[in-house]
Amino acid sequence: MSASAGPTTPPAFSPTGTFVPGEPWSSGVRRGPDGALTVAGVDVRELAAAQGTPAYVLDEADLRERARSYRRAFEAAFAEVGAGVDVYYAGKAFLSVAVARWVRAEGLRVDTATGGELAVALRADVPGEHIGLHGNNKSDAEIVRALEAGVGRIIVDSLAEVERVAAASRARGGVPAPVMIRVTTGVHAGGHEYISTAHEDQKFGLSLATAPDAQAEDSPAMTALLAVLAHPELELLGIHSHIGSQILDPSGFEVAARKVLELRAALAERTGFLVPEVDLGGGYGIAYLPGEVALDPDRIAKDVAASVAASSADLGTPLPRFSIEPGRAIVGPAGLTLYTVGTVKPVRVGGAAGDGEAESTTVRTYVSIDGGMSDNIRPALYGANYHAELANRLSDAAPVLARVVGKHCESGDIVVHDVLLPGDVRAGDLLAVAATGAYGRSMASNYNHVPRPPVVAVTDGGTRVLIRRETEDDLLALDLG
Ligand SMILES: Cc1ncc(COP(=O)(O)O)c(C=O)c1O
Repeated sequence: MSASAGPTTPPAFSPTGTFVPGEPWSSGVRRGPDGALTVAGVDVRELAAAQGTPAYVLDEADLRERARSYRRAFEAAFAEVGAGVDVYYAGKAFLSVAVARWVRAEGLRVDTATGGELAVALRADVPGEHIGLHGNNKSDAEIVRALEAGVGRIIVDSLAEVERVAAASRARGGVPAPVMIRVTTGVHAGGHEYISTAHEDQKFGLSLATAPDAQAEDSPAMTALLAVLAHPELELLGIHSHIGSQILDPSGFEVAARKVLELRAALAERTGFLVPEVDLGGGYGIAYLPGEVALDPDRIAKDVAASVAASSADLGTPLPRFSIEPGRAIVGPAGLTLYTVGTVKPVRVGGAAGDGEAESTTVRTYVSIDGGMSDNIRPALYGANYHAELANRLSDAAPVLARVVGKHCESGDIVVHDVLLPGDVRAGDLLAVAATGAYGRSMASNYNHVPRPPVVAVTDGGTRVLIRRETEDDLLALDLG
């Protein structure tokens, strides 16, 4: 993962009271004249009073601008080398009907990973042909639903799924189902094992390397491509590769693309069929901490376009149409989470004196907020690091080393491992945690029967609830007693 994600990463401290606009915050975040943060002109104190906390806050203009930048950057760079490209927003990062509409209005398509995400995209009137369906273990019902919706592509993840999609397509007696084969290129990118998806020892895709069955002549990826071509109910649309998430070194994309293009050339040589599309997946890294630098869409688009053009020329194959699937890079920095501080507890870090060791003098201030691992599991799951600021006021109190923790019954319930906060941080203060737009609400749970926070969009000084706060009644309604 990035510098922001590993538990071994040294903490990045930002001096309190010197809030600097810009990343990791959305472009609409400022400190107002009396010291409170504002998002797109909305004072977070008013927002918290109206919506309660915790609350996810989404800066619509920022999100749309990121969607636009990715589309424009890739369209321009790939046009330069003579290739077309489509940008699919990866809905797993965060999907709601409004967000699906926003990205569609910005010219993006929508990548879904389950029937539930597909339902949201359809509810938002995203045309079926602009939707992709992923999933390493799709149910038959999900496959049928995707075919009924006329999705533009089903990204097939196993040999068995080739047969299942073919059977579903046959049963419908309709036009051939457009499929892509997801391959694993062996490129390991993104810093945490759980979000690196193209190395061999994991559940996604079909390997380009030798098959587990030593007798097999072809790689699992080649076998699946040949199987698709053997089915008249299937249209082999493309090859798909997603190498991981929160990638800050672009070279992994280029190496993976080269391997995919080699596979495409090998299939063409063998069968005469040139796969029309190649998807390079998502994973574009963002800044989580002050001082971190996100991948620049213009740079990465130019680098990848130049690299695939060179590889295709080398292989003597014409360029395919490309697509990419950014999620985090579109919605991550556009979001922040607003919390109210409760208990504040100084704790001595390290041992008492003894065995020749001096007594530790380091004190960490545990700042408990009214949410936690149920609204942001990433620190507990991946050791991801985040940045927090006092949001309702400025303080000139000397900073203290703080850890922002939740209200759940786990000592690993940490939202921000290390951050400097003003020494007078106290109950009732508001804290804002930056860059929580991706994989926050979408991975949220009801652990400890905590209702999930609302998602509130801010646009030009106004607010709009996109997803309302869950209530205890919502949770109890599921409990049949
Ligand atoms: C197939 C696929 N595409 C796209 C993404 C989006 O990744 P990111 O949000 O890091 O851009 C993921 C994330 O897991 C994925 O699995």
